[in-house]
Amino acid sequence: MEYSEHFAYRDGRLYCEDLPVSKLADDYGTPLYIYSRAAFEQAYRDYDDNLRLDHMICYSVKTNSNLAVLQLMASLGSGFDIVSGGELARVVEAGGDAGRVVYSGVGKRDDEIAYALDLGIYCFNVESEAELEAISRVAAAKGKAAPVAFRVNPDVDPHTHHHIATGLKTSKFGVPVDEALRLYEKAAHLEGIRVRGLDCHIGSQLTTLAPFEEMAEKIIPLAQELKSRYGIEFVDVGGGLGINYANDGAPNAGEYAKLLNRRFADLGLKLVLEPGRSIAGNSGVLAARVTYLKRTARDFAVVDAGMNDMIRPALYSAWMNIDVAERRPADEKKLFSVVGPICESGDKLGEDRELAVKAGDVLVQFSAGAYGFSMSSNYNSRPRAAEIMVDKDRAFVIRQRETVSDLWRGERLLEL
Ligand code: LLP
Repeated sequence: MEYSEHFAYRDGRLYCEDLPVSKLADDYGTPLYIYSRAAFEQAYRDYDDNLRLDHMICYSVKTNSNLAVLQLMASLGSGFDIVSGGELARVVEAGGDAGRVVYSGVGKRDDEIAYALDLGIYCFNVESEAELEAISRVAAAKGKAAPVAFRVNPDVDPHTHHHIATGLKTSKFGVPVDEALRLYEKAAHLEGIRVRGLDCHIGSQLTTLAPFEEMAEKIIPLAQELKSRYGIEFVDVGGGLGINYANDGAPNAGEYAKLLNRRFADLGLKLVLEPGRSIAGNSGVLAARVTYLKRTARDFAVVDAGMNDMIRPALYSAWMNIDVAERRPADEKKLFSVVGPICESGDKLGEDRELAVKAGDVLVQFSAGAYGFSMSSNYNSRPRAAEIMVDKDRAFVIRQRETVSDLWRGERLLEL
């Protein structure tokens, strides 16, 4: 299975753009996150070029928050969807425009609200009445008016993994659609608040367009109402478009854009989007080297990347494709569980994979550009992987591999 022209096999060798992945693994060590600049750019343009409405694409920072990725997005004109003060600081550090930032999340603290107000973000996506009051209090104390949108929960089933379905009635996110009018009325009269838009996000890794149609159906009448009552300027439809990990049949950004063009054309409001996975997911891979082959009741390929580097298979039972960086057609394939070195039985990159592999080979986990490095940790005291960005035949280290002394940075011994 091949994902894009930017990660493709030529004569049995996997290339990222013009560089062989096995050579990158030799040069920079493993585990190694490898991103393609062209893939990021193309994924952004697939949205931007196909949207026929006034729009602002706010790349979802949580997906892959490396400064170079944010810098690249900003250079394409992207805004940003953030969920913490830390993410906002990253956007600023990378040269992004705070005026094109939307701030989501159910637990914004006063200090984070104040920081975002000082930087003049585009909008707060408010997730509760209590948060509205906090924003009002913090903004009024500064003599400012905070731009707000409520994140409404349209109660659409996105048919995705329950950990990432966020638009159901029972979810902690957003406010119920039927409470929205009361909250907007309250907001419109609250000190320090300026009603600016309407927001929603129904979930992630959506592989059909039907839930988006349903979401549009539910929020457009509300958006019309809010436009006439309070003069809102935009509707934010969140992120969520899925990608092909296997042959999931996920629609592409162009197809999704057509739906948005059709549904939102008559509304006369700016459209804000918060895509993450569909921009970063297939723009990166994780390369790992096989440390040992091991046989018990089954065959294992033990690699040097673990759940601390890529937690998606362990956390969501996510299936991500794994293949060799160098194909040797003569070798016989066997079924392997590809596992890491971490002391947890959940520590796997993939199960039952048909591979021709031996110790020392480089394996590649595809679709790792989203929610890979950004969810990584130092569990088992493992320094985090290096990240590189390939641009044609050049590679740039965009995050150095951590060293062991990085592991205890900030820790102190007791005076015993
Ligand atoms: N906007 C909001 C408010 C979100 O909560 C999210 C993702 C996005 C945008 C971006 O969604 P995307 O376009 O990437 O689907 N760690 C999980 C995914 C968690 C998604 C959280 N919210 C995974 O690895 O599958």
